[in-house]
Amino acid sequence: MQYATELETTIHDMVQKGRGILAADESAPTIAKRFRAIDVESTEEKRRAWRSLLVTTVGLGEYISGIILFEETLAQKTGDGKTIPEAAWTEKIVPGIKVDKGKIPLALSPGDLVTQGLDGLAERLRGYRQQGARFAKWREVYAIDQHVPTPHGIEANAEMLARYAAVCQAEGLVPIVEPEVLMDGDHDIDRHAEVTEAVQHAVFHALHRHHVALELMILKPNMVLPGKSCRRAEPDEVAAATLRILKRTVPAAVPSINFLSGGQGPEEATANLNAINQQGRDAPWRLSISYGRALQQTALQAWLGRKDNVPAAQQALLKRARLNHLAMLAKYRAEMEAE
Ligand code: 13P
Repeated sequence: MQYATELETTIHDMVQKGRGILAADESAPTIAKRFRAIDVESTEEKRRAWRSLLVTTVGLGEYISGIILFEETLAQKTGDGKTIPEAAWTEKIVPGIKVDKGKIPLALSPGDLVTQGLDGLAERLRGYRQQGARFAKWREVYAIDQHVPTPHGIEANAEMLARYAAVCQAEGLVPIVEPEVLMDGDHDIDRHAEVTEAVQHAVFHALHRHHVALELMILKPNMVLPGKSCRRAEPDEVAAATLRILKRTVPAAVPSINFLSGGQGPEEATANLNAINQQGRDAPWRLSISYGRALQQTALQAWLGRKDNVPAAQQALLKRARLNHLAMLAKYRAEMEAE
């Protein structure tokens, strides 16, 4: 593989004990939704200000080793004139880029979804690399209903993820492979486990077919949880179900599993990660995070779009990052939230 050495260096910089990934790659409609919740209009300047605030948080690099950015952000600058990818790297946080173009219905397969964006991907990746991105992210989404995802939907999504990952490795960017089985719905934890297992099996078969080097990728899966309208599960139950499915499906060659938060509350996501690390001491992979909402939510609420709130928002971000760092070491306790 042409870029093997470069990919190995990126994996080395991203996969480290007690450090995780911050997902700050919300698309235009999604960031507008997050800003609306704090009564802030989503302008280019506000998005720049928010993402600058994240990457200029002093000390964040102690807990965070990678940040996923959105295309627009790669070219934006912080107050002191550095590009946002450059500012991230001053904290030894590796900058990366979301490269998928979002989900659409899978034609002739009611209820199944599929993600688009493969056309011209190699050329786009070359441009992103010049702008400083060293890894990429692509998300496939699986909604759960009585009849979906269908076996055909699961195959189609796996094929997309594997093709994306192969293009990334060929172009020198580490792929984050993200198959997200949604927690929306009233399904129980067993149903979520069943779908997650089928999805992960299909994804790893497809990665193998497409010659993807498992050592040079990161998996970003959902935790196994009951649906949002079902009863809540205790962290020990979530951890046991999640590890059971991942051990059945994810080869030991994968260096790191970085969970998405997927709509869990910030404290819930940290407590579940802690239980996963407690029970997963013998697991072959690192068990870390790639949280979006669960890292950003409290900071957004402290910021409210105002310059004078930047220090408070950065403190809130740092606190969540540090608590998740402790959860990666299985040393988090709920009492720490009040400290
Ligand atoms: P959440 O942690 O908010 O689910 O976001 C992670 C992400 O990047 C989804 O693609």
